Amino acid sequence: MDRLSGSAHLMIVSDLDSTMVDHNDKENLSLLRFNALWEAYYRHDSLLVFSTGRSPTSYKRLRNGKPLLTPDITIMSVGTEITYGESMVPDTNWTQYLNQKWNRDIVIQETAKFPQLTPQSETEQRPHKVSFFVEEALEIMDVLSERLEKRGLDVKIIYSSGNRGIALDILPQGAGKGQALAYLLKNFKVDGKVPINTLVCGDSGNDAELFSVPEVYGVMVSNSQEELLQWYTQNAKNNPNIIHATERCAAGIIQAVGNFCLGPNVSPRDIRDSQKCKVDIFSPGHEVVKFYFFYERWRRAEVVTSEQYVQNLKSVFCPLGIFVHPSGVEQPFHQCIDSMTKLYGDKQGHRFRIWLDRVSSAQIGSDTWLVKFDKWELSGDELHCCVTTVLLSLKQAEVPDGFTWVHMHQTRLDGSRSRDQTVFCF
Ligand code: GLC
Ligand code: MG
Repeated sequence: MDRLSGSAHLMIVSDLDSTMVDHNDKENLSLLRFNALWEAYYRHDSLLVFSTGRSPTSYKRLRNGKPLLTPDITIMSVGTEITYGESMVPDTNWTQYLNQKWNRDIVIQETAKFPQLTPQSETEQRPHKVSFFVEEALEIMDVLSERLEKRGLDVKIIYSSGNRGIALDILPQGAGKGQALAYLLKNFKVDGKVPINTLVCGDSGNDAELFSVPEVYGVMVSNSQEELLQWYTQNAKNNPNIIHATERCAAGIIQAVGNFCLGPNVSPRDIRDSQKCKVDIFSPGHEVVKFYFFYERWRRAEVVTSEQYVQNLKSVFCPLGIFVHPSGVEQPFHQCIDSMTKLYGDKQGHRFRIWLDRVSSAQIGSDTWLVKFDKWELSGDELHCCVTTVLLSLKQAEVPDGFTWVHMHQTRLDGSRSRDQTVFCF
């Protein structure tokens, strides 16, 4: 990926439904924990890859409903579509390659002869993926692939269980989540940028292939489906680089990061006491993630209010610093902190969460950093995003371990206006 000049420190390749996203966790707490960990410590030198069975349409639907980060690479439709970056530029070489021994019209003709196959919605039918729901998958898989072979095709049939029953996907033989990852790794090799570590994460049948890619670590989250666990027992039981987590979904991914010693594995969201949070990790990303977690808890009244906290905050913000509000109005930092003080607990018992995405930082002077990120704020049913820029400077010798916030500027992404223009808060 062009975003990184060298090899990624860590590449996480994760399935979404029931792996990154826990549909039983309405508050999305483990996903938010993962997000904070990623943005604080990994975003700057690592790669996040989502690998989902969903089509682009249903992937976008999921993104709109869940606090998912922006991945560097998106693999959709069970490894048949690969896109790069935020603007999701498609890899046309990959699609070309998948045309070998593939003809979706023939797949449709042959599958129509099996009444047990119920076609999935139109959005999930893709150029290199034909998908159904089935009651019992195994018995027809062999017959079907034989018939398709006779007609000159070479296909791969994958079944995966999930919330909506058993899905059966028919893909070109060269496709699939594992093959798509192998293709990415091959390209990284050509560029001399193979990630130092790769961790694959999944929960169901279509993820099995990911775990057989050579030299990757793998985590099957605790809530994995029977077919994946069975595949593991039959094929990979002796591989010490694959674990079955005891934690569900994104919490299982964090667990694997710790288990395989792939880097920091304590999410800033798990550090409750902001004093203890003065950790020895020097990271502008960590600084902003930590601040917004504190801000969320302040408004939810999850920290005990005290003058000490307010004083601490004031010591972190430069007395002459200015906050440029999305409305364009400028306000001195200390006034913002006074406003924030008054907002203590105003979101108590409400749906109120903040997460940061796309945190990037650049050192622009011997002790100054420019940090840029998207600040997402969910409040009740309203979701807003502000592109935020913060100028941080290293504190002077008397407090050597922290940053001072010097300047801050926010621009609202969606163009909507805050209902209360008088509240000046970060
Ligand atoms: C996702 C896709 C579906 C596919 C299933 C299993 O749910 O939307 O089309 O069959 O994953 O791969
Ligand atoms: Mg899944």
